[in-house]
Amino acid sequence: MIQLSTSVCLLGGLFLIAPVLMAPTLANMCRPLKTLNDSLSHRRRYMKHNFPINYTIRVHHKEIFKLSNISKMRLNVEELDNLVLQRLWFQVNQGVLKKIIRVMPERHPSRPYTAELERRFRDAEGVFVESHPAEVFQQELPDTIQDIWDGLTEEPDRVPDSSWRFASPKSLLDNFCHTMFCLFSECFASTEAPQDYCDVSHWRKGRKKDLQPES
Ligand SMILES: *[C@@H]1O[C@H](CO)[C@@H](O)[C@H](O)[C@H]1NC(C)=O
Ligand SMILES: *[C@@H]1O[C@H](CO)[C@@H](O)[C@H](O)[C@H]1NC(C)=O
Ligand SMILES: *[C@@H]1O[C@H](CO)[C@@H](O)[C@H](O)[C@H]1NC(C)=O
Repeated sequence: MIQLSTSVCLLGGLFLIAPVLMAPTLANMCRPLKTLNDSLSHRRRYMKHNFPINYTIRVHHKEIFKLSNISKMRLNVEELDNLVLQRLWFQVNQGVLKKIIRVMPERHPSRPYTAELERRFRDAEGVFVESHPAEVFQQELPDTIQDIWDGLTEEPDRVPDSSWRFASPKSLLDNFCHTMFCLFSECFASTEAPQDYCDVSHWRKGRKKDLQPES
């Protein structure tokens, strides 16, 4: 702690605007996550235009993991560590990517895109795991989070019918992207215009500017 504040003073003295300080473990994540964001920024073309209109795939309802879920969990789960949500984010989106890839024939025009997206996601996950002591991943999860985890890792044939939902690949990647900005917001912070990426209305505004009637 003492060391940290010394470096804050030093930085504050050296630069007019002190850069946002973050834990070194999170700093490691920023490069792979930015690379992932570069891929995700093409999701409309590859996940919407290359699929039939209104195309949906079947996912577990817990794989629909949106900003509203995060805010609800933060309200309802006491002392919820962001790291727990980050672990959940990796778990959810690993399943989402697998399900999207599974429905695409070998020659589907979005296949190379999705394969690269998955590769980049794995890279980020590798850095995430390396950046934390192994004990972190053995820590007990809060009950509500453990229940979600169990639902996600259940054998598909043991999942009750009522737990399945249909969602478009594009909407799943929208969730993937928006929750990434929220849970790793330090990596996407902008000095000129600070954003609250966890705020649902942030993305609603973005959509209007898009001038796309339906996304
Ligand atoms: C994500 O990537 C796109 C394309 O490279 C870029 O325009 C956008 O600013 C990035 N978003 C953030 C929050 O860094
Ligand atoms: C797609 O879904 C929208 C909204 O549910 C519906 O109005 C439209 O007719 C559908 N388009 C096709 C081609 O099925
Ligand atoms: C997010 O909320 C929806 C309903 O609001 C729910 O169906 C889904 O299971 C939730 N996702 C997670 C990961 O809890």
